[in-house]
Amino acid sequence: MSLLETRRLTRHFGETRAVDGVDFAVRAGEVLALIGSNGAGKTSLVNLISGLIRPDSGQILFRDQDVTPHSVNQRIRAGIARSFQLVNLFDHLTCLDNVALAIFSREGKTKKLLALAGRDIAVWREAADVLGQFGLDSKARMLAGGISQGERKLLDVAVAYALRPRLLFLDEPTSGVSTREKAPIMDIITAIVRSRGITAVIIEHDMDIVFKYSDRIVVMHQGTILADGTPDEIRDNATVTTTLIGTTGDARA
Ligand SMILES: Nc1ncnc2c1ncn2[C@@H]1O[C@H](COP(=O)(O)OP(=O)(O)O)[C@@H](O)[C@H]1O
Ligand SMILES: [Mg+2]
Repeated sequence: MSLLETRRLTRHFGETRAVDGVDFAVRAGEVLALIGSNGAGKTSLVNLISGLIRPDSGQILFRDQDVTPHSVNQRIRAGIARSFQLVNLFDHLTCLDNVALAIFSREGKTKKLLALAGRDIAVWREAADVLGQFGLDSKARMLAGGISQGERKLLDVAVAYALRPRLLFLDEPTSGVSTREKAPIMDIITAIVRSRGITAVIIEHDMDIVFKYSDRIVVMHQGTILADGTPDEIRDNATVTTTLIGTTGDARA
């Protein structure tokens, strides 16, 4: 059963067909990789689904409900969260504060934040627990701007996870980190989403990572879906290989 479906979803920027009539479906419980060369439309698709930008036409259905007119916050409340290609953190707040803010916003408590934050023990406990799950316990009191790039990427995912989504979009969770750091980051993220039954869509350009961690792969190219299959099917798909290599010079997504 599809948890999420887009129908003929379209968004153009001038002459650029960033997302062009896309029918994209995510099944409940899967870890799906969304790949494609630079400019293929992956981030735009996630921006449309999370409500950051509006489609020119087409529909987004989440749990069989048409959420196309809904705001970002309505979609978050419905269970759609996302992390960002360029992390979206409050650099001058601590790591713990960044996660706590997400919990407060989930609970609709942001207005009370300044007055009550210090007293709302349950929120701080939960924030500490979330940091612990992401292996960031020792960073709780450090400023988000002062930790390593790999830790920042994890923290950005932790903030999205703290919103308790059913469906979590991760836009290049390992971009900008060393090859050595990629697998540990993906190990942590995929262990958490799989153990919590969270459906995840991961945009990733490292093909070794994609093949290792995903159940299914959707390939975008010039705003459309070029291929959709298991890691084995995609590995053997000549069109995909030719297109990815042909457009970027390597297998980058
Ligand atoms: N806000 C925008 N204004 C103009 N063009 C945009 C905007 N956002 C994305 N695009 C263009 O849409 C295309 C798809 O971009 P994007 O979705 O970021 O691709 P990807 O994430 O696959 O690299 C690119 O050609 C990009 O330049
Ligand atoms: Mg992108």
